[in-house]
Amino acid sequence: MADQTFPVMTTTAGAPIADDQNSLTAGPRGPVLLQDYHLIEKLAHQNRERIPERVVHAKGSAAYGTLTITGDISRYTRARIFAGIGRQTEALLRFSTVAGERGAADAERDVRGFALKFYTEEGNWDLVGNNTPVFFIRDPLKFPDFIRTQKRHPRANLRSNTAMWDFWSLSPESLHQVTILFSDRGLPQGYRFMNGYGSHTYSFWNDAGERFWVKFHFKSLQGIRTWTNEEAAAIIAHDRESAQRDLFEAIEHGDYPRWRMCVQIMPEADAERTPYNPFDLTKVWPHADYPLIEVGILELNRNPAHYFAEVEQASFSPSNIVPGIGFSPDKMLQGRLFAYADAHRYRVGTHYESLPVNRPRCPVHTHHADGAMRFDAPHGTDAYYHPNSFGGPQPQPAAKEPPLRISGDAGHYDHRAGNDDYTQAGALFRLFDAGQRERLFRNIAAAMQGVPDSIVARQLVHFQRADPDYAEGVAQALGQARARARADAE
Ligand code: NDP
Ligand code: HEM
Repeated sequence: MADQTFPVMTTTAGAPIADDQNSLTAGPRGPVLLQDYHLIEKLAHQNRERIPERVVHAKGSAAYGTLTITGDISRYTRARIFAGIGRQTEALLRFSTVAGERGAADAERDVRGFALKFYTEEGNWDLVGNNTPVFFIRDPLKFPDFIRTQKRHPRANLRSNTAMWDFWSLSPESLHQVTILFSDRGLPQGYRFMNGYGSHTYSFWNDAGERFWVKFHFKSLQGIRTWTNEEAAAIIAHDRESAQRDLFEAIEHGDYPRWRMCVQIMPEADAERTPYNPFDLTKVWPHADYPLIEVGILELNRNPAHYFAEVEQASFSPSNIVPGIGFSPDKMLQGRLFAYADAHRYRVGTHYESLPVNRPRCPVHTHHADGAMRFDAPHGTDAYYHPNSFGGPQPQPAAKEPPLRISGDAGHYDHRAGNDDYTQAGALFRLFDAGQRERLFRNIAAAMQGVPDSIVARQLVHFQRADPDYAEGVAQALGQARARARADAE
């Protein structure tokens, strides 16, 4: 110990601190003096240690890694990240559960977030997806309502099965995602053992100005591993951080998780011809029609050095794209293009993009000015507006995206009218073997405990429309669950 040297403890102003065990008092019995600035600073900082948790996806884990390109898709996109086999780009991947608060247990049945930030040489590209290829709703107007039903009841402060099934049974577009949620894949063993999906339809555009519709897939090379409800309950009883622990320890031990990144490509004109709306987030594109094309391998190989600085402050937004990648008419995606950066300005602060974890790895030149915590101000320039005569940054016409073809009269169109919410949910159900179906029925029956009969009956009609065996299986499982509850009560 004697020959060890330590850095000097200081105030935030850099002045050395003489005593960090005993506050400054008038005599050994106190009271404490107001002039003990070190004490005041310490207490004041503690009061400000938390920022608001994310309004959804509050509980999460993240790691850095690398995307290495293995397949040439340069005929579809001019994005530099895809330019050349072997090309590597640094990435951050944050996984999360959706409904739970920051202290929630990891091993809960819920959709998992799969949020990627690629630090490309042309700016950050954020692909903020989930471990499911579809979502519960198709209109962003319904997102706050949907999330209400996933969070706590305003009076009881408890999660409400009734609210969930009431909303889902009144929103048949949710059936596909509900089927995934209550299937085996709705409860992954950890973040390494699940796929990721960009979920929305995005677009690619190439140097010739041609546009293609694209969906992104990340297939786990660790394989899919899931818990049953009973296994998860046992895990949670002794470990609420099972997914964080699994990811962190695997990376610490050099067992780097990897995913095969693939795309599905749809020629622009096909969008008029598919029997489903390819911009509807409740639908997949069947693999038989649009096969997966391998693009690269994503490997996570570095744990963040500081959880708060690099994970809690990480700010992902679907609005962050780079030349060669574009949006699509997907209504949900359009809603999200607003929501995320707005959330970050509130949750993290105006200059959240300047924090090290969010900062692009390429030069950034904007004319945004000031606001709280401005610390990246450009030095010695007269070019603080545009146009100017002082050599300031100029727009780059080469980054201009080809026009996105959209048309239509403004109106509140009924997104449920004539929409087939059942075929793809039924197709998924028919993929399941007998054991998977049995667990699906039981998981749904368990989640319907306490839900009024009228709501259950309404939901059974949706299962029936997807597949009669689906409805019958759930009805039977509900009967068994009720019989068990009666027996337990006697
Ligand atoms: P395919 O038979 O070509 O693909 C089936 C897909 O289902 C595979 O991607 C498989 O993932 C995935 N899958 C298997 N079990 C589950 C589960 N419990 N929850 C979620 N996904 C699961 O069929 P299609 O492309 O024609 O699609 C049929 C149905 O498969 C769709 O209606 C959709 O519900 C589901 N699906 C389709 C996807 C797509 O992009 N086409 C993507 C994911 C699901 P894996 O290969 O990892 O085993
Ligand atoms: C987080 C809004 C749909 C995936 C968030 C956050 C908001 C939000 C406000 C918190 C952001 C933050 O504070 O950092 C919305 C809205 C949606 C929507 C308005 C629909 C209109 C979706 C969909 C997906 C998704 C469809 C996946 C396909 C995520 C993920 C996170 C997140 C992964 C966590 C990101 C992180 O790790 O920081 N969403 N969301 N969301 N959302 Fe959404």
